[in-house]
Amino acid sequence: MEKMLFKRIDVPNAADITVAEKHGAYSQVGKAFGIKPEDLVNEVKRSGLRGRGGAGFPAGLKWELCARVPGDVKYLLCNADEGEPGTFKDRFILEQDPHLLIEGMIIAGHAIGAQQGYIYLRAEYPKAAGILEKAIEQAYAKGFLGKNILGKGVKFDLSVHGGAGAYICGEETALIESLEGKRGQPRSRPPFPASSGAWRKPTVINNVETLANIPFIVALGAETYAKIGEESAPGPKLFAVSGAVNNPGGFELPMGTTLREIIYTHAGGIKDGKQLKAVIPGGASTPMLTADHLDVKADFNSLMAAGSMLGSGAVIVMDDTACMVNVTAVLIRFFEHESCGKCTPCREGTGWLYKVYRRILSGEGKPDDVDLLLSICESIRGKCFCPLGEGAIQPVLSSIAHFRSDYEQCVNGRGCGREEQCRKVLH
Ligand SMILES: Cc1cc2nc3c(=O)[nH]c(=O)nc-3n(C[C@H](O)[C@H](O)[C@H](O)COP(=O)(O)O)c2cc1C
Repeated sequence: MEKMLFKRIDVPNAADITVAEKHGAYSQVGKAFGIKPEDLVNEVKRSGLRGRGGAGFPAGLKWELCARVPGDVKYLLCNADEGEPGTFKDRFILEQDPHLLIEGMIIAGHAIGAQQGYIYLRAEYPKAAGILEKAIEQAYAKGFLGKNILGKGVKFDLSVHGGAGAYICGEETALIESLEGKRGQPRSRPPFPASSGAWRKPTVINNVETLANIPFIVALGAETYAKIGEESAPGPKLFAVSGAVNNPGGFELPMGTTLREIIYTHAGGIKDGKQLKAVIPGGASTPMLTADHLDVKADFNSLMAAGSMLGSGAVIVMDDTACMVNVTAVLIRFFEHESCGKCTPCREGTGWLYKVYRRILSGEGKPDDVDLLLSICESIRGKCFCPLGEGAIQPVLSSIAHFRSDYEQCVNGRGCGREEQCRKVLH
């Protein structure tokens, strides 16, 4: 597949507007402005584009819901919080091709009737912040942003809003609260942001990668775009591969590429001639899979059918020397730290889980602890205010389902010889 989202990724200095324009940036803005907003929304609907931030919600439908709400003030938010452990795919666009995102946002703003956009940027991406600020300044100077874009009477202002350094602020309603200057905690839904979002105005919030697809949908037309990837989820997909592989990094591949191809062909296979033990296909909150699942296609429906999720496309690979209790403890420590505290099952439950993992890793685990972990998960499942708690239990449930023997080895009092690794997790 010819690269689209990573088309300019190897072009030196593509973050500079002159270079980016030479390689096609902003070429679709004029075409998009010649299309009526409702037709643009329909084009995105027909393209089949599904959100790349994790949930896979149809982008065109979200846009339509917002566009249909009466009112002159609407907002377009780009979710660049990229906080899911293992995820670093958006970073490539933010740092190396910011004009692709800006172009996508200009077109999206026109389609939904938003004249103001914000890029909510992960606090831990200071490099991207400087690059984006400069790219936005250049886009204003060239007339791609502002009151009268390309002299066509279209207005769109854009700015970067620094994130709060919290995982929860990637959740769309917590992001909105944080953008408004409040503590980043989720809102109850409904109302959904499309009807009542930032400052209670109709708001579309899309992931960086989702918005980066928009210029290509305009360029190719919905029919041609829809032929890329999977019928149920067309388009290219960015995968961020990390862990025990020879060639970790970001890869643009057609949606539906198998885990085997991602890991063995593109990420160079398992390091040091070892075997794959486990793979987390979509970031820390997606259930772990095993070597038996390598032929599963990485797309929303196929991974769901295999018992996991595409999530953000962050593929984390563990080799056969990994202890899955240890790995899961690290993930639970993250969720316990990042639980926002708004709802009890998540706040207390993730704390309890981590307490039990600490006990097991310190060598004081009891045989009943595995069932105790499962029962804590049951106290969290389906009872949380937002999906953070639900995500937190996935590594626990899936690691016990697939690797219960690792747990039993830890709690039988005989030790496994990997205690050194465990002590590192405890500190
Ligand atoms: C705890 C939590 C963290 C999230 N973090 C991110 C994130 O960092 N980036 C992102 O795009 N979506 C994140 N999401 C998903 C967003 O809530 C939302 O679904 C997404 O921004 C919608 O954009 P999309 O439809 O283009 O995918 C997160 C969700 C949850 C529950």
